[in-house]
Amino acid sequence: MNKSILITGANGGLGKESARQLALIDGTEKIYLACRNLSKAEEAKQSLEKSTGRTIFEIVIMDVSDPASVRSAVAKLSQPIDALIMNAGGMGGKSPMDVTSNGVTSLFAANVLGHVVLLDELIKEKKLTKVALYAGSEGARGVEDMGMNQPDLKTSSVDEFVTVIDGAFFGEATDPMEAYGYIKYLAALWMSSEARKNPDLRLITVSPGFTSGTAVMNDLPLGKKLMFKYIMMPIVAPLKGLVHKLEKGAKRFVDGITDDSFKSGVFYASKAKLLTGPVIDQSTIFSNLNNSSYQDNANAAIHRFIQ
Ligand SMILES: NC(=O)c1ccc[n+]([C@@H]2O[C@H](COP(=O)([O-])OP(=O)(O)OC[C@H]3O[C@@H](n4cnc5c(N)ncnc54)[C@H](OP(=O)(O)O)[C@@H]3O)[C@@H](O)[C@H]2O)c1
Repeated sequence: MNKSILITGANGGLGKESARQLALIDGTEKIYLACRNLSKAEEAKQSLEKSTGRTIFEIVIMDVSDPASVRSAVAKLSQPIDALIMNAGGMGGKSPMDVTSNGVTSLFAANVLGHVVLLDELIKEKKLTKVALYAGSEGARGVEDMGMNQPDLKTSSVDEFVTVIDGAFFGEATDPMEAYGYIKYLAALWMSSEARKNPDLRLITVSPGFTSGTAVMNDLPLGKKLMFKYIMMPIVAPLKGLVHKLEKGAKRFVDGITDDSFKSGVFYASKAKLLTGPVIDQSTIFSNLNNSSYQDNANAAIHRFIQ
């Protein structure tokens, strides 16, 4: 039973829907909505109070692309939390491959950097008692139907992972969708590495699956955005059974933190070639995910960017 839960990117999409579902579970006493924008967070809080009839939501201002913002938010948490959902992220804004002051791409900053700081700080300050879930993606093991190849690194050394984080790996003409798959791959490796280091916690990666009703496609380059929003999502994907509704995507996160049969260190997502339906251990599809050296190298590479 998770009495208190913190969700990043909780003002919309999967984060907000997860907050709604969790508030309706008996025993949930507090849900922290960790958001970067106060007015969006207040709007979400009001709407969640209305839809659930519960007044258990508290806003935490946190920009997960900014380690300082994350540290300051953790310092302000007066009580430990039982569960953490690291959901914020997506396509990294309008210039996803631009490098931030931390030396990482905006895409990496929004999806991973601050979450690594967040988990590190919570563990260090003994402010996480049970479970943390990272919002992964099937892109991390490749999605043929979306033209996303399985990540293909030559050595999987720390130095090579560094080039994925600072963008050098991708060169000039980068497709943000492809970079996104690599970044979610690194994040899944990082979570598995942390799971081995922290046996008292349950640390998992779970993909929500291809989920409609969120804003994740809005930042894609125009051509891709039109293709995904108006052709892939509403027409092609439903015909192939490759997309599900927001409730189902968020339910995967809720199950992940409430059901102990989700094993620490594992990345759960859809079966091979699918983006919906039951979740399985992704290392049965992409064995690199199970390689403890790759996991530790990815973790070490990420920590090179954290002071
Ligand atoms: N939808 C899918 O099909 C799908 C599939 C696989 C994985 N995912 C993953 O699921 C997660 C949620 O995606 P979604 O579909 O719900 O997208 P979404 O509707 O775009 O929601 C993303 C949330 O993250 C927040 N966010 C983005 N950057 C942030 C930052 N730097 N600091 C704090 N909050 C930030 C956004 O806040 P603002 O409103 O302030 O921008 C928003 O609340 C993402 O990690 C995404 O990669 C989604």
